[in-house]
Amino acid sequence: MSRKKLRIGLIGFGCVGQGLYEALSKTPALEASIARICVRDRNKVRPLEAGLFTFDRAEILDDPSINVVVELTDDADAAYEIVTEALRRGKSVVSANKKMIATHFEELIALQRETGSQLLYEAACCASMPIIRNLEEYYDNDLLECVEGILNGSTNYILSKTYTEGMSYREALAQAQKNGYAESDPSLDTEGFDARNKLVILIAHAFGKVAAPEEICRLGIDRIGRLELDYAKEKGKKIKLVAQAYRCPDGKIAAFVLPKFVSPNDKLFLVDDVYNGVVTCTRFADTQFFVGKGAGSLPTASAVLSDLSALRYDYRYEYKKLGENAALQSKDDIFLRVLLRIPDRSPGGLTASFIEIHERYSNRDCSFITGVISLSDLEWTLSSEQVCSCVLFEVAEDPFPKWKAAEHVESQNEIAV
Ligand code: NAP
Ligand code: HSE
Repeated sequence: MSRKKLRIGLIGFGCVGQGLYEALSKTPALEASIARICVRDRNKVRPLEAGLFTFDRAEILDDPSINVVVELTDDADAAYEIVTEALRRGKSVVSANKKMIATHFEELIALQRETGSQLLYEAACCASMPIIRNLEEYYDNDLLECVEGILNGSTNYILSKTYTEGMSYREALAQAQKNGYAESDPSLDTEGFDARNKLVILIAHAFGKVAAPEEICRLGIDRIGRLELDYAKEKGKKIKLVAQAYRCPDGKIAAFVLPKFVSPNDKLFLVDDVYNGVVTCTRFADTQFFVGKGAGSLPTASAVLSDLSALRYDYRYEYKKLGENAALQSKDDIFLRVLLRIPDRSPGGLTASFIEIHERYSNRDCSFITGVISLSDLEWTLSSEQVCSCVLFEVAEDPFPKWKAAEHVESQNEIAV
């Protein structure tokens, strides 16, 4: 079978772009060559001959000899313009920009269908770990029950360094930036936005629901304090930033991103440093576990390389599960057992939000409650300024299951008859 030769217009030559250049130079069998590189800053010194670079993206988009655009900028707005224009011009596109994809997901899927051009983005989720194509192709049926994982390398690196090596938060973040793991705006990592963007992408390929990022509750690691870290240590657990999506008994999809206490018997416990880990649960295979580097120049480039290879045989995402019309679960119907800390000696009105309270503790500076709360109440509480932080223990059983309510109504009807 003859394979398509790829003539690439590369947009962005930072951490990932340079990794891709190096990876391509070592994989000649791919028959993919970089024709032009577009960057932003005219004053930066580049490690390659000046003639290869342009500062005008039109020189790539207008060039009919370029059949693939690889978009590796750190600017989601520019990326959106570049990717949509390239698709409209019939070019195949590879992107690693999860923010841009999660924000414009519906439109990008529609544009691929309308133009027949394909957009691949394996590097956008968990960098080196092949997760999107697995969810799309291998789990190509309705058997997937849950996807849970550490989707952000920088925050996992920061949590690992602060927990095991006693490094300060600031120092660990600076290291993550120096290593090329963090986003240009690192609050995207630390506040959980990046993990949420990745979860949006995974949910579409796993369950067929294209959610808007804002629909999914998110909390990052920036509010985690000494108290939660000591609590974790005392109980032999670690805190990880975990994104999860699972199918509820009524078929709807529950999803959120929260710091979580992870026990040694949990597969994610040993996923440290810049590694990402994803656990899938299916009806027949039970659990499966993927692990791999979740950020960094060459690991991320490896996923871009794999997309380029897939383009050679015209691979495209078919978004097979979109027709299933999955819906997100209401946050009122998701119940979580959490630890909630507030910077106040008295938890006051906060206790009213809890359905069950298991522990309550106050010292001179703060108080915490552990217990069961609905995701909607948790989200509301987190948005109120006084609340310091929250760490998830586990998903709790629905205290008001609908089947019970239905049964109750049925039995009432029987009595009435
Ligand atoms: P980076 O090191 O900051 O590099 C960004 C590059 O984009 C730079 O070369 C910059 O040009 C260029 N650029 C920015 N705006 C541009 C514009 N309007 N037109 C042309 N070029 C523009 O970023 P990165 O870490 O390589 O990340 C690139 C993308 O991959 C991001 O979307 C990121 O979220 C994603 N990603 C990164 C990783 C990772 O581990 N780093 C992993 C997975 C996904 P100058 O050189 O002129 O500044
Ligand atoms: N900033 C991201 C992370 C890059 O740390 O996971 C990989 O997507």
